[in-house]
Amino acid sequence: MPTLNLIGGGRVGKTLGRLWQTQGVLQVQDVLTTSPASAQAAVDFIGAGRPANSVQTLRPADCWLIAVPDRQIAASAQALARAGRPPSIAFHASGALAAAELAPLQAAGWQIASAHCILSFATPATAVQQFPGTSCALEGDAAALAALQPLFSAIGAHCFTLPSADKLRYHAGAVFATNFLPVLQATAEALWLNSGVPPELLPQLRTTLLRNAVDNLLALGPAGALTGPAARGDTALVQHQGQAVAAWDAQAGAAYTALSELAARLAREGRL
Ligand SMILES: NC(=O)c1ccc[n+]([C@@H]2O[C@H](COP(=O)([O-])OP(=O)(O)OC[C@H]3O[C@@H](n4cnc5c(N)ncnc54)[C@H](OP(=O)(O)O)[C@@H]3O)[C@@H](O)[C@H]2O)c1
Repeated sequence: MPTLNLIGGGRVGKTLGRLWQTQGVLQVQDVLTTSPASAQAAVDFIGAGRPANSVQTLRPADCWLIAVPDRQIAASAQALARAGRPPSIAFHASGALAAAELAPLQAAGWQIASAHCILSFATPATAVQQFPGTSCALEGDAAALAALQPLFSAIGAHCFTLPSADKLRYHAGAVFATNFLPVLQATAEALWLNSGVPPELLPQLRTTLLRNAVDNLLALGPAGALTGPAARGDTALVQHQGQAVAAWDAQAGAAYTALSELAARLAREGRL
């Protein structure tokens, strides 16, 4: 089996490492994080690999996944390039940043790529279960993409390629589709509590409204599922409600007004 080194063994590193290891696609070899304890925890979750304590102790590997937070990717690539390992394939998992974050490795003869799996990796244990069927956006050097696509397909991903220049807007779409949902729900629940809804009703409200919204979206699409005052063109109510929300929380009020304008456009034009 080809070998995989992990720099970063958090939610994404653990999940992909375990999927590749247990499905016999890649042999997880060395795992480097910020501490021996977290590297050991990643190795335990993956069920293979050796915790490492510095870049210098990482052995040569066929593939390197740099699954650190986005702001750490460039520095990790720089450190790996300085360590002078034999060039192979290096990729990061960011949706917003291009493969070019790994430029120091490319300059040293490596093939570089980014591979963004469009899934909320809330915990590695849930992500391992949810992963099959996940779409994965690949971008970078042709040879790296040719090597990575079968590796991702083998664990159930649907791969597609993306131009480097469009990654920020592409990733913003994923933020709207998944990251903002918990924010919207938290805002709704805070408003309900603040306006006197009994706290014990919240779990039921959460369940019924989320299921209702998801069912309608899946059946009717965004424009067909849209309801509410902005969709009905009730601009006076939207304005008063925006002011009431802003009086409670200025940022929530601004979000209410901006989203209401998008809702009105979606209702009017059937699309954004
Ligand atoms: N979470 C998601 O839903 C998701 C989805 C798609 C893509 N991504 C992308 O996946 C990448 C990783 O995100 P994540 O959610 O897995 O992050 P995470 O859970 O915060 O894990 C980050 C990992 O990187 C390690 N780390 C941080 N700085 C490091 C350094 N300088 N050297 C070595 N290891 C370092 C951390 O070590 P410790 O364990 O010691 O803290 C941790 O293991 C990011 O590029 C992110 O944009 C995330």
